Amino acid sequence: MATLGNEVVQTALKIPVESQYERRFGLSSPWEHYYHPSDTAPQGRFECELDDMVVFGDIPQEISGTWYRMLVDPHFCPQPGTPFVDGDGNVSAFRIQDGKISMKIKYVQTERWLLERKAGRRLFGRYRNPYDIHPCVQLANDTTANTNIIYWGGNILALAERGLPYALDPDTLETRGADPYGGQVAAKTFAAHPKVDPRKNELVTWSYSAKGLSTRDICTYSIDPQGRIHNEHWFQQDKPGWPHDGWITDNWIILSNMPFAVNSDEVMKAGGDYWRFVPDQPAEFLVSPRLSNAPNHPAWKPGEFRKYTVDHGLIIHTGNAWEEEDGILKLESHFVSFNVFSFFNAADYEGPKSMPTGDWKRWTIDLSKPDGSELPPPETLLSGIFDFPIFDERLTGRKSKIVYLGQMTSPGTPRPEFDAVVKLNTETGETSTFDTAKDGRVAEPAYIPRGPDCEEGDGWLIFYADQESSRKGELIILDTNDFSKPVAIAQLPFVLRNQVHGNWVQNPHPERPLPPLTGPIRDVTPTPQYSQLNKLL
Ligand SMILES: [Fe+2]
Repeated sequence: MATLGNEVVQTALKIPVESQYERRFGLSSPWEHYYHPSDTAPQGRFECELDDMVVFGDIPQEISGTWYRMLVDPHFCPQPGTPFVDGDGNVSAFRIQDGKISMKIKYVQTERWLLERKAGRRLFGRYRNPYDIHPCVQLANDTTANTNIIYWGGNILALAERGLPYALDPDTLETRGADPYGGQVAAKTFAAHPKVDPRKNELVTWSYSAKGLSTRDICTYSIDPQGRIHNEHWFQQDKPGWPHDGWITDNWIILSNMPFAVNSDEVMKAGGDYWRFVPDQPAEFLVSPRLSNAPNHPAWKPGEFRKYTVDHGLIIHTGNAWEEEDGILKLESHFVSFNVFSFFNAADYEGPKSMPTGDWKRWTIDLSKPDGSELPPPETLLSGIFDFPIFDERLTGRKSKIVYLGQMTSPGTPRPEFDAVVKLNTETGETSTFDTAKDGRVAEPAYIPRGPDCEEGDGWLIFYADQESSRKGELIILDTNDFSKPVAIAQLPFVLRNQVHGNWVQNPHPERPLPPLTGPIRDVTPTPQYSQLNKLL
């Protein structure tokens, strides 16, 4: 579910429902440390299908596609101290066709998931801690494929930046296998937020710690729809970093390196976390040409990359970026003033020093500036705490004006939840806001274009929401021209676990309708022999 910052929930400590068993009967569960007190979502750990979801209102007939979402849902009980952002990747997909929704929830069958199922228990330990793992799986592929899910080249790709993608069947969600681009590039990891260039029709991606755990190596490259790798470029950070998201323009790729360092071996041998927040470390923009041997700027040498910095802060997720005259790049993102990943080394984090902020900003990079330069202060386009930015990806890398954001409207209160979705027109400053119920939360929205040639940002948003007072989750569909009320709400018979990220995928073959996600429909012939309702014959 929605989080303060990104994949994370910072929520008020509540007395979990399960603790009543402790109070009343003295019964406890080894799972309680994971689900409570910091989580907001109930137990998941199931796979299911639903046909024809209960819908209030009308789903526009023009909508034809699938919304793939990634949930974090450990299949076996994690060890104490595991943050709720770590766990097996569990896909929840919603397919909309002819005004109806079918859905499916299914685990990504990673090697790690299969090994633990075979053993019947947890074998892997703390996130990226090499000392916290069962000896029998030391050589195994440990990725959980639990962070993002995208469509590329006929595959659904389940992504986690600790490893390479897993490919899934778009209709059945069956796991096809790991590393669909095998052997073409030496990188051992993959981005959680690769970008599709709609004009070049290529997936632009990167790997950090690309030569293995805690290495300084970054590799950027692109993948064509046939799965062939192009434009491979390697460079090194000054220390192992965490560039979780980034931007692309026609000629450049820019990664946002967050202010984290890798803990020492001693800390990890003692069972500690992998990441360590560095309170004063500047935010870094790592800039690389998309064609490394032919940078599109006279001041850049082939093969070069540069780092630009700004004051301390977190750019976890990014909006759009574009090029202007004379080697100027414009990039949009939030800029968060506090550590949203405080569950790593929680005992060491003292919390924000002032009222938390996460304004929506626009940054300027002058590519003529030398490596190591500090960027000028950004423009503030909208004040507040925002995350989960989405924009019309037909304009990726080109100037755009519409961005959709999740907003936390009540920071610093006992309920610091993402509870609103905002539409911002950055040219006019105009905003529209959809607020959930008072006890509601929203997860990252997805944008559905109204048609192939519609205006920028025109169409619908879809996002998951739930309320503390309800045991049912909701899919809310908003018309982007009217945030006053949804056009439709589809109701789930349960509350879902935390969504990390998700993406809308239009029907890739619009000439024929999509099958329901509920699998093949078997043929059947009525059998008169057993009919008891045949009086009219
Ligand atoms: Fe993310």
